[in-house]
Amino acid sequence: MDKMFTVRLSKDGQAVEIIDQTLLPNEVKFLRLESAESVYEAIYELRVRGAPAIGIAAAFGMYVLAGQIPDNDVFYAELERLGEYLISSRPTAVNLSFAVKRMLSAAEGCGKEAALPRLYEECNAIYGEDRAMCRAIAENGLTLVRDGNGILTHCNAGALAASEYGTGLGTLLLGKERGYNFKVYSDETRPLLQGARLTAFELFNAGIDVTLICDSAASMLMKEGRINACFVGCDRVAANGDVANKIGTRSVAVNAKYHGVPFYVFCPGSTIDFGCKNGADIVIEERLPEEITTKFFAKPTAPKGVKCFNPAFDVTDAELVTAIVTERGICRYPYTKSLAGMFGGN
Ligand code: MRU
Repeated sequence: MDKMFTVRLSKDGQAVEIIDQTLLPNEVKFLRLESAESVYEAIYELRVRGAPAIGIAAAFGMYVLAGQIPDNDVFYAELERLGEYLISSRPTAVNLSFAVKRMLSAAEGCGKEAALPRLYEECNAIYGEDRAMCRAIAENGLTLVRDGNGILTHCNAGALAASEYGTGLGTLLLGKERGYNFKVYSDETRPLLQGARLTAFELFNAGIDVTLICDSAASMLMKEGRINACFVGCDRVAANGDVANKIGTRSVAVNAKYHGVPFYVFCPGSTIDFGCKNGADIVIEERLPEEITTKFFAKPTAPKGVKCFNPAFDVTDAELVTAIVTERGICRYPYTKSLAGMFGGN
């Protein structure tokens, strides 16, 4: 079996390579994405997913696609068009547009020959920075917990959502390396089951004590005192600290507040969008009804044609967030001040 990886540039530089996350945990299959359509499809279908990972995939994609554009006067305009196309695959995670914009800036004002080495350097920088950021986030997160703590997770914010350690799960993986014994409860995370298929898979393989629960069991576990902290990643943080993450995150946060359990959000600075004043400015992706009614089921679980509403993310109000853990340090409420203080408002 190939060494596990989430997303990388192929050795020949002609493709983005990913593990197909839609097949996990049953099958480990790697894909080569060589066209704009295949990169778009892989992001849209969540073959590669998680805010930082889709940013990295788009950055590598931009390099690969730049190599296919003819060397002429419209090289940069074509690159911009491809960037817009990739950004349109998923609207909520800001890391996607952040990475594409960085790639476009790297190539701005250049013809193809000058642009390619710059784009190569930039996509590798985005990847390298993500690894360093995840590591720093994990270190900062470790200051918030103790050996033996019970941790609730929602969705997947591990290496499959980023690079190496991931964000929300990084602290747990690093803690394991340092001899901490956490007791993790992974919300299965309806409807696409990232908690069951991916978080349970990653933590179980890392030898961490992980128990899979239905999303609706989390409240009871908090009442019983089994949860010392909730750990989630996020897709976009507004300037006031409102946080968009996988649908159901808000319920976890409301429950955590009620039960006096700290609710921690983990993210790199690239997930903070100072252009969004608050959560109302964040576009929430809505996905197909089939993801609720048939996907991952042997038989449909709802009457054919029934009305469904399937938002992929929700916004957790800043007041419910105990802290936002970043690579530069830990921000606390009021976030308008602490986020701007740590990231300089940009
Ligand atoms: O729809 P997904 O699987 O891409 O959603 C992912 C999440 O909500 C993660 O929690 C988030 O991207 C943080 S990843 C480090």
